[in-house]
Amino acid sequence: SQKAHAAVTGFKFDEVAAGVDERHHVAAGYDADILIRWGDAVTPGAPAFDPAQQSASAQKQQFGYNNDYIGYLPMPGAANPSAHGLLVVNHEYTNEELMFSGIGEQDTKEAAFAKMTKDLVDIEKAAHGGAVIEIRRDNGKWSVVPNSKYARRIDADTVMEITGPAAGSERLKTKADPSGRRVLGMLNNCAGGVTPWGTWLSCEENFNGYFWGKLADNDPQATAFKRYGVPSNWYAWGKFEDRFDVNKEPNEANRFGWVVEIDPFDPNSTPKKRTAMGRFKHEGAAGILNKDNRYVVYQGDDERFDYVYKFVTAGRFDPANAAANRDLLDAGTLFVAKYNADGSGEWMPLTFGQGPLTAANGFKDQADVLIETRRASDLLGATKMDRPEDAEVNPVTQKVYVMLTNNTRRKPDQVDAANPRADNKFGHVIEMTPVDGDHAATKFTWEILLKCGDPSVAEVGATFSSATTKDGWFGMPDNCAVDADGRLWISTDGNSDKATGRADGLWAIETAGEARATSKLFFRCPAGAEMCGPMFTPDVETLFLAVQHPGDDGPQWKAFGRASTFDDPSTRWPDFKPGMPPRPSVVVITRTGGGKIAS
Ligand code: FEO
Ligand code: CA
Ligand code: CA
Ligand code: CA
Repeated sequence: SQKAHAAVTGFKFDEVAAGVDERHHVAAGYDADILIRWGDAVTPGAPAFDPAQQSASAQKQQFGYNNDYIGYLPMPGAANPSAHGLLVVNHEYTNEELMFSGIGEQDTKEAAFAKMTKDLVDIEKAAHGGAVIEIRRDNGKWSVVPNSKYARRIDADTVMEITGPAAGSERLKTKADPSGRRVLGMLNNCAGGVTPWGTWLSCEENFNGYFWGKLADNDPQATAFKRYGVPSNWYAWGKFEDRFDVNKEPNEANRFGWVVEIDPFDPNSTPKKRTAMGRFKHEGAAGILNKDNRYVVYQGDDERFDYVYKFVTAGRFDPANAAANRDLLDAGTLFVAKYNADGSGEWMPLTFGQGPLTAANGFKDQADVLIETRRASDLLGATKMDRPEDAEVNPVTQKVYVMLTNNTRRKPDQVDAANPRADNKFGHVIEMTPVDGDHAATKFTWEILLKCGDPSVAEVGATFSSATTKDGWFGMPDNCAVDADGRLWISTDGNSDKATGRADGLWAIETAGEARATSKLFFRCPAGAEMCGPMFTPDVETLFLAVQHPGDDGPQWKAFGRASTFDDPSTRWPDFKPGMPPRPSVVVITRTGGGKIAS
């Protein structure tokens, strides 16, 4: 029964006190160790990190900035697959005001931009992308294997191949790449996934921010670009490189916003942008092997009023034939979700020629549908959600959890059953159930697991169970993980001294029985950081967490009344050393003396 299930799945740990300070905090009886930090060596021969002398060539060999997604792939043949493997980590973006001395001290963002030299931009580009590291647990403690043959950095200049239905499209061709099939780099890779065939899916999210310039109203791509916020002028890269200037290279932005598949076991492999999976601000790409061995990937498009997607491969995973799995993600069907008020739901295919996805609406082929995935979904009447972030399948129950982080722009006349709160400051979590446990099906049922926020404030309307303590509630769900025992863990982005009086962190949340919607705080970030990552080893003895942008508790610019965090020792997590800036880092959590986490 559900009650019995709740009794056996309970999370056994003493909750951390909610709050905010300069340190990280984990539940008593656990060790939370720094595994690798921004600037630590990745590839053989990498120089030691010296923030005062940083260079792009050093950064290309070192761990990048703003670690987000973490994937763990057991080493094939390892005696203990949960003690030796590859860690794949996304480096989502850079905070120049936290990384470089003299930038945050400027009076305005414009003045800081003017200070960004080509050398600094090149460091930023090298700090983007991702990292592959080999790690091992000896005598209970994890460490990075030095000089591993798998060690790899991927950055904003790594050569990548564009594959699938949009490869070679006229709209993907540039001066530097007349083939429309070869692109440099991946940008703003947020969450992701690992596949049963041992690859890493890394998801390009807010790619619009890297493009600068100003679109003319009569620009032929104006409508398509505006739907994605291109250009957004968040970075100074367009000052030095024409491809990031939409007025100089009008098609480059179409080559970003994809899911990138990387084989971490072959450090010479070319990453592939899998266009069949759609182009939008991909949060993540967690998947499940369907009962018929097709692979199904659930995906959120992180934007206010954007959509939840899934991709279903045409082919089937074959565990005995690695070559047959290699390009599975190039052929299949992309679906967008519609949540009906009666708790039913539909997956609507984004297939050229079907319904409104025709030449009459400006689509001449499937490439057009994929390049403009958002507009195609608008035409299908998909449900406009409150910023869909991570989605994960519970492998034990087959239920799918979708994090909806918040949406303060939703007006009272825009609420619907799946997004029931106007001015949704704290977000919510939806639970979806595929019909007959078939993830490829076009129908599902759904309900809201949880409306987030402080349950002691009636107007917030939060729905944590009454067993949830004052430390146990949270807002802004972002990433999630389901461990091998089918237990849901949620990490947050946006809790802060201003928003909730508490830091971001990782919460354990019950999904079944009487305990459903009971949440407990397991790990708390240092001030200004967002909690990313969560990834467990298969034996649930190890939890990897990514602490992203420590020290970033709002605009750092003097114009906003803040001193540069670079010079404020209390923000220099995790080293707290003079001259050392705060460093985004991967934290590895194990039970002191060993054993399963929260059991
Ligand atoms: Fe990069 Fe949607 O968080
Ligand atoms: Ca993030
Ligand atoms: Ca995220
Ligand atoms: Ca987020």
